[in-house]
Amino acid sequence: MLGLLADSCGFSTWRRLEFMDRIRIVGGHSLRGSIPISGAKNAALPLLIASLLTEDRLTLKNVPNLADVNLLVRILRNHGVDLAVDGKRSSPSGHLGDTIHLTARDIVDTTAPYEMVSRMRASFWVLGPLIARMGEARVSLPGGCAIGTRPVDLHLTGLKALGAEIDIDSGYVVAKAPKGLRGAHIVFPKVSVGATHNVLLAAALAKGETVIENAAREPEIGDVATCLTKMGAHVEGIGTSVLRVQGRDRLEGAVHTVLPDRIETGTFAMAVAATGGDVLLEGAHINDLKTALDILGETGTSVEATEAGVRIARNGGGIQPVSVETQPFPGFPTDLQAQLMALLTRASGTSVIRETIFENRFMHVQELARLGADIQLHGDTATIKGVKELKGAPVMATDLRASVSLVIAGLAGEGETVINRVYHLDRGFEQLERKLSACGAEIERLSSG
Ligand code: UD1
Repeated sequence: MLGLLADSCGFSTWRRLEFMDRIRIVGGHSLRGSIPISGAKNAALPLLIASLLTEDRLTLKNVPNLADVNLLVRILRNHGVDLAVDGKRSSPSGHLGDTIHLTARDIVDTTAPYEMVSRMRASFWVLGPLIARMGEARVSLPGGCAIGTRPVDLHLTGLKALGAEIDIDSGYVVAKAPKGLRGAHIVFPKVSVGATHNVLLAAALAKGETVIENAAREPEIGDVATCLTKMGAHVEGIGTSVLRVQGRDRLEGAVHTVLPDRIETGTFAMAVAATGGDVLLEGAHINDLKTALDILGETGTSVEATEAGVRIARNGGGIQPVSVETQPFPGFPTDLQAQLMALLTRASGTSVIRETIFENRFMHVQELARLGADIQLHGDTATIKGVKELKGAPVMATDLRASVSLVIAGLAGEGETVINRVYHLDRGFEQLERKLSACGAEIERLSSG
């Protein structure tokens, strides 16, 4: 064991990076080589939260070293979860192990405070497990990326159906289930990843069977369901929109490996398509990203599944325009919308992207325009007229996925781009500069420290 996670790269580090670090890119280099894909942030977060469901040890392997993970670790420690880290990262510079052991023997505090939950929306998902295990919880209403209003009504309806009594008091969700939770039949009126996670996690410790209809089908939900099954709950329908969960009075410890990050995979795939080149995305699962990779194929990029991962290549040839609408899985992911837009800024023709999941997820548009992109916005639809070249400029990262779209545009543009507020990138991309520069990109972090 190497020690506790948050000690070496915790919240304070993240806060220091928050306002100061920048990323400098000199564009125009094609990418060649291979990039190891990290564990998925969006699976690691709910899997870490699953530790609250058992007094036994849950061991998670392939956990990415990200600001969001470190923040959640702080929240879990606040609830009384014991944490230790070991294992090896694929990169020699990884200063933390990729294996986290979590033991929630005693939950000492059932409050998740505003100061923490407001920084990351997924931390709200502790609500279901805390009610299920402790019969009570007080969790701040969430914050997160500024990409829309992002309500939590579906989470609350689902948990009420399982028997939780819920009030809102001074910005907190106050929930009680003195007699414990019991299985129920829940039909979500809308697909929500977070509400599916919250209810699924709670249902694992509820009495009897819970059926969740219109559940999100994202691979990360399947990963959590698989882990819960290892812990003793039984989940059927993994990968479909109907999940059947047999809850247990008590869950056990387990060992689980976080699946590869399909959004990181898609991001690097778009970067290679934008700059040209040939890169193997090591360990990537092609089936978790089929729609996005098919679209990439339509742009004229070669996509090949190999035993080692997914190989992306574009050698010469232009970028063909495409029309895309974001959809829940298995559709085109909203988390790749900004990256695809960065690629299409240089297409030979006009592309259209419609954002159907979040109403305000176009903040990258004005920053891409600073680099020379020609994009018109009408409501939920962006029309992107391809330009011959982008020119480097200083730009501002606005949210996690938007900021990485600026990295892609900077790599594909001419001259120097400096991205401010890179703490957004640190929330969700592990060793971004290192992975890209290993493939020939000219990219560096300008640390203020
Ligand atoms: C998760 C992902 C995020 C991704 C999003 C959609 C994590 C940590 N985050 O976010 O990266 O962009 O899925 O794929 O996995 N909604 C409601 N009521 C609710 C909950 C959601 O109306 O109670 C709406 C949202 O406003 C949004 C849509 O449902 O319009 C989908 O949101 P949801 O799937 O819940 O997103 P998150 O779980 O927050």
